[in-house]
Amino acid sequence: MKILLLGSGGREHALAWKIAASPLVTKLWCAPGNAGIAREAECVGIDIADHPAVIAFCQREKVDLVVVGPETPLAAGIVDDLSRAGIKAFGPSKQAARLEGSKGFTKALCTEFNIPTGAYGRFDKAADALAYVRRHGAPIVVKADGLAAGKGVVVAMTPAKAEAAVAMMFEGAFGVAGAEVVIEEYLEGREISFFALCDGETAIALASAQDHKRVFDHDQGPNTGGMGAYSPTPFVTPAIHDQIMADIILPTVAGMKARGTPFRGVLYAGVMLTAAGPKLFEYNVRFGDPECQVLMLRMMSDVVPAMLASCDGELKHFDLRWFDEPALTVVMAAKGYPGDYAKGTRIEGLEAAAQIEGVEIFQAGTIAKNGALLANGGRVLNVCASGKTVVEARQRAYAAIDRIKWPEGFCRRDIGWQAVEQEQAQK
Ligand code: AMP
Ligand code: GLY
Repeated sequence: MKILLLGSGGREHALAWKIAASPLVTKLWCAPGNAGIAREAECVGIDIADHPAVIAFCQREKVDLVVVGPETPLAAGIVDDLSRAGIKAFGPSKQAARLEGSKGFTKALCTEFNIPTGAYGRFDKAADALAYVRRHGAPIVVKADGLAAGKGVVVAMTPAKAEAAVAMMFEGAFGVAGAEVVIEEYLEGREISFFALCDGETAIALASAQDHKRVFDHDQGPNTGGMGAYSPTPFVTPAIHDQIMADIILPTVAGMKARGTPFRGVLYAGVMLTAAGPKLFEYNVRFGDPECQVLMLRMMSDVVPAMLASCDGELKHFDLRWFDEPALTVVMAAKGYPGDYAKGTRIEGLEAAAQIEGVEIFQAGTIAKNGALLANGGRVLNVCASGKTVVEARQRAYAAIDRIKWPEGFCRRDIGWQAVEQEQAQK
């Protein structure tokens, strides 16, 4: 099979690594890719926002399957356009991608199909949104309706912060994404990521993970795209796993089908484990980054047949095997991220780092120039490791990081802390 992967982050490097390992694959391209992906796939400089160019490439090279990594092309309808051209593509249609592209859409689906989530209001006028905030007080969560590159959510601990967030969004801080605003009940509890593979009719659970959204240790500082993750999380017990599937994932798949917009691809639920049970606070319609990196390390089965079964509506009898060993990933980012940061700084020592047992390094914002590896983005490297325990995986990942020479980079030193606390408490 010939496969074209779209994207250029650490998530796509992990996907390329896993897809390239499939005996079914004879050729793998990635557009646009990065310096790490280039070791697994042939990188091609197509602009993935240019759907006719992607289609022309697929037709010329007789691509059998397109795998879409990020949400932007999904929301732009790349899967619909490829399908219309007779090209199989893994991921949701434009309508189904609304689960990530519109917070209000997802909240309305939850109400219609009785999916547990926080109470909310939906507003297209600042005055109404402000009145809602004044009525409900804080803490409260203010969300731009549309895609805002992970920045459209303000968890306001005071009414003044909530009011400022409402004003900022209606003043156009996120462009059209903030023309409508969702204000949501603040959910108290542990936050986990839950992944399921869907084929429009049914869903099978992939695995659970925990991301670390804040930029600094002890969950301090601004939100980021994610500074590290591990899988599985001990907080998703078998009972909670079954509850998330029965109460959240399966009703969503059934609801989307009933509405005539079946969901295919990866459904990524952001779930808060509250005292009143698991509650959905957001959907994404693709693998998480960096959660994908640990999921691919833990997946024993070939990922390609699973993706094909998702496209073809054949997941019902499908089974995926996983390694029991936990995996953990630490993101190395350029100093200044998620704010301004420098590009073009030199990274050394990756080969020595990768020699540590259980370690795999995926690259995100990197570029190769004259034989050197340079940072080319905010999140730059994902240093991953497996181990018998989260503690061991974490030791290995940080040992690898200590061999990497990149003075202009930084990372959190406490990835996995919640699971580590739990492992230590059980000793
Ligand atoms: P997002 O940018 O959509 O991933 O959301 C950013 C973060 O906001 C999430 O990772 C949660 O930690 C937090 N969040 C979103 N909704 C809620 C909520 N209803 N209650 C508490 N925290 C929330
Ligand atoms: N890790 C968070 C995300 O992929 O949205």
